[in-house]
Amino acid sequence: RRPIPSFRCSLAGGVTTVPILTELKMKCATPLPLLQRIADAMASDMRAGLAADNGSDLKMILSYVDSLPTGNEKGLFYALDLGGTNFRVVRVQLGGKQNKVVDSEFEQVSIPQELMQGTTEELFNFIASKLANFAAKESGKFQLPKGRTREIGFTFSFPIKQTSINSGILIKWTKGFAVLGTAGKDVVACLKEAMQRQGLDMSVSALVNDAVATLAGAKYWDDDVLIAVILGTGTNACYIERKDAIPKLQWPAGGTRNMIISTEWGAFTTDLPLTEFDKDMDSESINPGEQIFEKTISGMYLGEIVRRVLLKMASFSSLFGDSIPEKLLIPLVLRNLFPMTVRKFFNLAKKEVSEIFKFFCQETRSTLKARRIVVDVCDTIVKRGGRLAGAGIVGILQKMEQDSKGLISGKRTVVAMDGGLYEHYPQYRNYLKDAVAELLGAEVSKNIVIEHTKDGSGIGAALLAAANSKYASEFQI
Ligand code: GLC
Repeated sequence: RRPIPSFRCSLAGGVTTVPILTELKMKCATPLPLLQRIADAMASDMRAGLAADNGSDLKMILSYVDSLPTGNEKGLFYALDLGGTNFRVVRVQLGGKQNKVVDSEFEQVSIPQELMQGTTEELFNFIASKLANFAAKESGKFQLPKGRTREIGFTFSFPIKQTSINSGILIKWTKGFAVLGTAGKDVVACLKEAMQRQGLDMSVSALVNDAVATLAGAKYWDDDVLIAVILGTGTNACYIERKDAIPKLQWPAGGTRNMIISTEWGAFTTDLPLTEFDKDMDSESINPGEQIFEKTISGMYLGEIVRRVLLKMASFSSLFGDSIPEKLLIPLVLRNLFPMTVRKFFNLAKKEVSEIFKFFCQETRSTLKARRIVVDVCDTIVKRGGRLAGAGIVGILQKMEQDSKGLISGKRTVVAMDGGLYEHYPQYRNYLKDAVAELLGAEVSKNIVIEHTKDGSGIGAALLAAANSKYASEFQI
């Protein structure tokens, strides 16, 4: 006799999933009036965050980036990008106005899970050792003039209280990181110490958030870029603000007019349509009560919300057969499969949906009815995420337009987008763009270009290192 597997899958979509799905759709609905309220709240939270440091959910972080690359930058620069799932090292040879980016190379490694919850020294040792290996492989096509130190733009994608362009204190970890002892420390000093331990002689010229680096990178190619948004493991948005509209800015007179502000919009909360699944996920997360917008719209969490819904359905129906598949019980099981598996989920084609059944219960067969249910769950969560992200963008546009009349209206305005979620999920992109168009109306939205900027953040950080280089006067025209 064949042994009976302990987790059997009959793959029938049970009728009892219906009320769960109906309620989910109702709770996740994002009708236009709700999106408008969210956009308005985003704009007013932005103003409150600009007025005082703890004025709102949004930290509205001063980036100290107040002059963007001019295009004249020349030379060899490095970028380090510590984001969410991956860590990247980048090398860029800048060729000035005529040649722009002459050459670039990068290496990417995924961050071992244990380092995300280890000690500060372990994490920074890992970063510095990867950088040292990469720097050792520099070929002749990259040229550093004699006597210069190699300079780095450090993209550190977590909330930082920036103290200058090349220093900043970690406020808190996000996106599943819980490294001991880093909060309250200058992360550039942590990196410098780790580089010394490696015997690596490099200096950090700019410390930037990934959204800020993306804006700088995108604006290098297109002057109409005013906003950048990251939708990856986590989410954030930044934009160009007038210094005289930043009451909390204690800035010496003179200098340039504008500064990039990193909103840290992942912490936004007002009016979000949340379900029991969101609330449970939040309370069981390592940062309960924090980053609620991020937990509703970004890549690390969408798969987890889907898992929770499917788990409830599997407990009340035979969606995955007579028993609950073991994997479905594992929190964040879909997080590490991002972007591969989750991408497949959200493409929603029959073959891809079958992958979900295969993943959870090792069978490829599934009934049409059961597949439809899973598609509906994924689509509901993706639709809510995309539309809320769109409302957030409209909130920023509204704030910019209301406070500087005519800044945007009638002009081409580019929103530079990056991050795995935005890049790989066409449905998400479409929902986001639909929401922006619905909120702004056809006349206004035709001037708003929402555009993917591939790898803006690596090049952007290198450019900001160049713009803030200690040798800047030698190569800027
Ligand atoms: C998280 C971080 C933020 C970063 C974003 C996107 O929200 O707090 O700093 O920009 O993820 O990576």
